[in-house]
Amino acid sequence: MLAATAVLPTVPPPAHALAAVVHPNPYAYYQSLAAHRPFDFDASLGLWVAAGPQALAAVLRHPACGVRPAGATVPAALAKGAAGDWFGALVRMNDGATHAAMKPWLKARLASLHADGATLDRLRDASQAACADAYLAQGDTPTARLDDFVFRQPIYALAAWLGVPSSQWVDVYDDVRTLVAAMAESAKPSPRAEAIARGHRAATALCQRAMRWLDNDAAPGTWLRDTARIAAHDDALDHAALTANVAGLFTQTHDACAGLVANSLRRLARHASPTVIPAIDGRQMLRANLAVAIATVSDVIRLDPPVQNTRRFLHAPAVIGERTLARGDAILVVLAAAPASAGPDDMAWTFGHGAHTCPGRSPASTIAALGVQTILDSEVDLAAIATGTAYHPLGNVRIARFHEEAPAD
Ligand code: HEM
Repeated sequence: MLAATAVLPTVPPPAHALAAVVHPNPYAYYQSLAAHRPFDFDASLGLWVAAGPQALAAVLRHPACGVRPAGATVPAALAKGAAGDWFGALVRMNDGATHAAMKPWLKARLASLHADGATLDRLRDASQAACADAYLAQGDTPTARLDDFVFRQPIYALAAWLGVPSSQWVDVYDDVRTLVAAMAESAKPSPRAEAIARGHRAATALCQRAMRWLDNDAAPGTWLRDTARIAAHDDALDHAALTANVAGLFTQTHDACAGLVANSLRRLARHASPTVIPAIDGRQMLRANLAVAIATVSDVIRLDPPVQNTRRFLHAPAVIGERTLARGDAILVVLAAAPASAGPDDMAWTFGHGAHTCPGRSPASTIAALGVQTILDSEVDLAAIATGTAYHPLGNVRIARFHEEAPAD
């Protein structure tokens, strides 16, 4: 763990739990929330807020709490289009039979991703390709390139790991980005029709690609080819749902892994100290950078988690933590408020809890470590460009932002 603690500017605490996601240092506020208001209704947000560990566990395990509002698996703005069809098939967005049918399958397949030496080499190549493409997309401004890289690198790395041909990485990234933007747009009070239409086109393109990957377009010996082979022998499997969920792995990765990479880079920038580096050769330097990257990613998983909160919706009246909730009530589940213990193996609540726990924890950590290593290898002066206090304006995911202006959608 990085020992020294960088001095952060003194700013007023966040006004509420949603504002905490983009606050320079929300952790004292979270601690106080968990201690004094572990489960309460916040009238300013119109939401129940669960922040204490017992409340978090109770909500995430309660059978009346669904991941989407009752009867509205697909947001109204996305319905009647390819993005809506895709969204409605995701394990992340379903409870009950649809979730139970696909989650164990997906979990087992993701558990088969092993980070052996050859894999790390492939991910390193993909991360370097992301670095080069961030340069092509953003030009010479180092902060804009870094903002681009933290989103692009995890998608390229996941694509490489699953077996997507490298000629498709740029297009996959563009489609994933457009689809994630459309999902965010659909949650706004007045979604822009053009952003939603782009989302439908991206969903069509991404799902068609996923279909081709599972239909022999991926190279032999890859995860995708093995997944297709296993699926072909499983009569109970819904192949359309599998295709949607393979595409969904990329959208799940987009923001969450970007947060892990970006928050790690900020942490490194803040703790950078002008030490005398002993003369070591290139290979030793790569190994040293990888070790620093792994340690920093693991600190961020515990102490500055990317996914700060998630939501649950009451499908039936329920009493949770001695509070009476009505059908239709919504709960903000503040995962980042659960304290991390001192142990390095503790991952706090960063990857969720209960039936919807993230099945991508291990690949996410490896992908992020390779992303951070790539920046360390490039010898970018992080202390000069990455120490700021800005975050992308998102409601659930905390992603350090390095350029003054957010990159255009
Ligand atoms: C830093 C990286 C990541 C973080 C912090 C993260 C965190 C989370 C969290 C908190 C949830 C649970 C949401 C809820 O209960 O409402 C979740 C679900 C999920 N994550 Fe991740 N995730 C990360 C990366 C990934 C990656 C790389 C993949 C796949 C390759 C992935 C696949 C999924 C899937 C499929 C679900 C839905 C599981 C379900 O609903 O049963 N995640 N993730």
